[in-house]
Amino acid sequence: MTYFIGIDTSTTATKALLMDAEGHVISTAAAEYSFETPQPLWTEQDPDLWWDATVKSTRQVMADSGIEGSQVKGIGLTGQMHGLVLLDEQGEVLRPAILWNDQRTGAQCDQIRARIGRERLIQITGNDALTGFTAPKILWVQQNEPDLWARTRHILLPKDFVRYKLTGEFACDRAGGAGTILFDIKKRSWSPEVLAALDIPSELLPATFEGPQVTSTLSPQAAVDTGLAPGIPVVGGGGDQAAAAVGTGAVTEGIVSLSLGTSGVVFATSDHPAIEPEGRLHAFCHALPDKWHLMGVMLSAAGSLRWFRDSFAPQQDFDALVTPAAEIPPGCDGLIFLPYLTGERTPHPDPLARGAFVGLTVRHTLQHLTRAVLEGVAFGLRDSFELMKATGLGEIRQVRVTGGGAQSPLWRQILADVLGAELVTINAVEGAAYGAALLAATGAGIFLDMETACESTISVTGRTAPGEAVQTYQALYPLYRGLYPALKPTFNALM
Ligand code: XUL
Repeated sequence: MTYFIGIDTSTTATKALLMDAEGHVISTAAAEYSFETPQPLWTEQDPDLWWDATVKSTRQVMADSGIEGSQVKGIGLTGQMHGLVLLDEQGEVLRPAILWNDQRTGAQCDQIRARIGRERLIQITGNDALTGFTAPKILWVQQNEPDLWARTRHILLPKDFVRYKLTGEFACDRAGGAGTILFDIKKRSWSPEVLAALDIPSELLPATFEGPQVTSTLSPQAAVDTGLAPGIPVVGGGGDQAAAAVGTGAVTEGIVSLSLGTSGVVFATSDHPAIEPEGRLHAFCHALPDKWHLMGVMLSAAGSLRWFRDSFAPQQDFDALVTPAAEIPPGCDGLIFLPYLTGERTPHPDPLARGAFVGLTVRHTLQHLTRAVLEGVAFGLRDSFELMKATGLGEIRQVRVTGGGAQSPLWRQILADVLGAELVTINAVEGAAYGAALLAATGAGIFLDMETACESTISVTGRTAPGEAVQTYQALYPLYRGLYPALKPTFNALM
């Protein structure tokens, strides 16, 4: 039997997953770390933490499985997107990585729009300039740390720093590359126009590869460090969202993945480089060759329910809180919740957006408020679906729901009713690390292509069909839509 490893360098931990050639998960292991906030709005992480955690979790996953390192025939990498890692001539780290959730680059985003033109930027890269993305972080370093910028010889994403440590090579997957907004997403490579406008020499950027393509092999030194055999192929892999979509089988048009974690992510595959003209959806390359994806991100999805439980019913577990809310009628007797508790990304890229309960009366109980939170999150996610439909993505045939929130049957029913689409649960629960392992197995020739890999390994375990409440929610949705524009001046004025 041969085996494959997926390594996910997330913001809080590195997770290693060992999978056999039939797609069964043999074991997983994680090594945690934290990130620094040296100033307000800043988030940074020392890249060496990722490498130490890679070594630790890989050694652990192999020890737990009892499988010989020599039986591993491929490694797939995934991880937090958009982070900026800078290396000097000798390959030494020049400064802590600036992470995806760092917010220091508002001014640099404006400069990028001014230099390239907002419309042109969206046309080339598929996206508007957002503080989370990599390009504005590079401008920030150019302007604030010029000596360090002068010594920079390599720009890498977090996952690709791990690749460098594993193989000694500089390479990047195209899903991750697109997340820098230095990419021409139609051509699936670095955009000379954007690089020139931002004074970024192309020699600083790594070669790019498709997700299942082999970029390089495990070096003798890394083999000693990890306990694996030298020469194991390492594939391109993918940014965490693209790899997680592979890990749920969202690799064909019409199958949408909906992840209901702290944040909520709606992810749809496209056979062409679809772009939302205002840049309200992220448009990136997928981790599959010749596929792209659109993505909507809600910042507080299951995070809204957690906040509500922690604040108003801290003694109750989620089941005890949510189950009685099923007795409340859809629409909560005229109560609507806005889920912008930590600002919002899609469809309102607005850090000042706030949460709200609108329509409270003395008749409303804890159950009403609970149900309103579930419904408000569902309405917010519907915004991403509507944008995707308007962008010409075609029919949404199936929504694959994952994440902690998906465990609630009531929430699944509300989502099916609000979205007017069938929701399914699946057998694969390991997310991005599993997707990375599937990319590695396909790169090694175990599966014909990624679609076959997903069909052979991922199956539907349950279905939730839209029910009677569809009409009620259809009528309420325009009221929900009207609240953000109505309240925006108030949000802006509140400090
Ligand atoms: C994707 C994004 C996050 C990070 C961290 O656009 O910002 O998913 O990749 O997980």
